Amino acid sequence: IKTQVAIMGAGPAGLMLSHLLAKAGIESTVIEIRSRQEISETVRAGILEHGTVNMLVDSGVSDRVLREGDRHDGIELRFNGESHRIDFKDLVGESVWLYPQTDVFMDLAARRADAGGDVRYSVTDTTVRDLEGSPKVWFTDADGTEFELHADFIAGADGSRSHCRFQIPEAHRKWYFHEYPFAWFGILAEAPRSSDELIYANSDNGFALISQRTETVQRMYFQCDPNEDVNNWSEERIWDAFRSRVNGNGFELKEGPVIDKMVLKFRSFVHTPMRHGKLFLAGDAAHTVPPTGAKGLNLAIHDVKVLFQGLDSYYKSGSSALLDSYSDRALDRVWKAQQFSYWMTSMLHTPADADDFSRARQLGELNSVVSSRHGRAYLAEAYTGWPSA
Ligand code: DHB
Repeated sequence: IKTQVAIMGAGPAGLMLSHLLAKAGIESTVIEIRSRQEISETVRAGILEHGTVNMLVDSGVSDRVLREGDRHDGIELRFNGESHRIDFKDLVGESVWLYPQTDVFMDLAARRADAGGDVRYSVTDTTVRDLEGSPKVWFTDADGTEFELHADFIAGADGSRSHCRFQIPEAHRKWYFHEYPFAWFGILAEAPRSSDELIYANSDNGFALISQRTETVQRMYFQCDPNEDVNNWSEERIWDAFRSRVNGNGFELKEGPVIDKMVLKFRSFVHTPMRHGKLFLAGDAAHTVPPTGAKGLNLAIHDVKVLFQGLDSYYKSGSSALLDSYSDRALDRVWKAQQFSYWMTSMLHTPADADDFSRARQLGELNSVVSSRHGRAYLAEAYTGWPSA
C-alpha cells in the first residue's frame, strides 16, 4: 500500500499532523502499537499553551477545550509559607488552559475517525526502512495482516521510546541528556479544588504542585526519590507529605480518597538533528523535558505545526526549503523549553543534600522572580508559550 506521509504514532503529535495534512489534501497513514482505548486511559499532563489551544480550535479539531477546559490567567508560586501570584494576563496578555492531554487525544482521534482518516491502532511488528531513499514501513495490523507501506516521508511521532529514532545511524545524530535527582509522586484524589489556580510550591520538605481535573477530582504531585515505590505510600502518608509542603499561614489543602498514584521520572533529552533523510522526528520521539514547566505536549504540537508547514510547502510548490529548515526551527523552541523546564525544576525542587547556602540562594532566586515585574514576565512568557516560529 502507498501513502504520502507515513506517521508513526497516534499520540497528539501524530494525529494532529495527520489532521493538518488531510485538510491540505495530503494523504497520510497513522500507525500505532497501542489500542485507542489504552491511549485514552493513560493519565498525562494537563496544561495547554494558548498557541496549542488555537491550533485545536482554528484547525477545526474541536472547540471542546473552550467549553470544557478551564482558562487559567495565572499561577501561584508558594515558598516560605507565602503565595505569590504570577498574573499572566497582566504580564504578557495571555492565558493557558487546563485541559488534560487525554482529552486532546480523544478530540483528535474522534476528528480523524469522522473524517475517514487512516489510523491503525493496535498494530505489531513495525519496522521502518530506507530512510534515505524510498521509505517503507512494515507492520502487522490488529487482524494479523502484514503490510508493506510505501511513503514519500515518514514522521516519527512514536513517543519517548521511539523506534524511529533508533533507525538513525549513530554517525548522523547527537544526543543531549540531563538526569535530575528528582521524581514526582502523582495522585488523583476525590476532593474539591483547594485553589482557583495551580500552586507550584517550594518548601524545606521539597516541591509540590497542586493541579486540578474537575470539580470533584484533583491532580497533585510532590517531589519524591526517583526509586520510590508507590506501594509504600498509604493515604495518610501521602497527605502528610502534601501538608508539610503546602499548608500554613491560613492555607489548607482539601483532602479526599486517593484514586490513583504513580511515580514520574524526570529527564531532559534532545535528539539532533530532528531529521534524517526522509524521516522527521516530532514530539517526545525527539525530546523530553521534566514536567515542571508543563511543556511536553505543547512542544510536540509546535513541532507538528512547523513540520506541516514544510510538508505543505513541498507538496504545493515542490520546494524543500521549509522542510530543510524543520529541525532548526523546531529545535529553537525545544531548547527554550529545555531551559525553562530546567529552571523551574531547579528553582522549585529541594535536593536531598542541599546545604544551607544552596537553600538560601534558592529562596533568593524565588524572591528575585516574584518581586520583579521583569522576573514574573519572564516566567509568564515562557509558561504561556513564546511566539511561534
Ligand atoms: C499538570 C502537570 C504539569 O507537569 C504541570 O506543570 C502542571 C499541571 C497537570 O497534570 O495538571
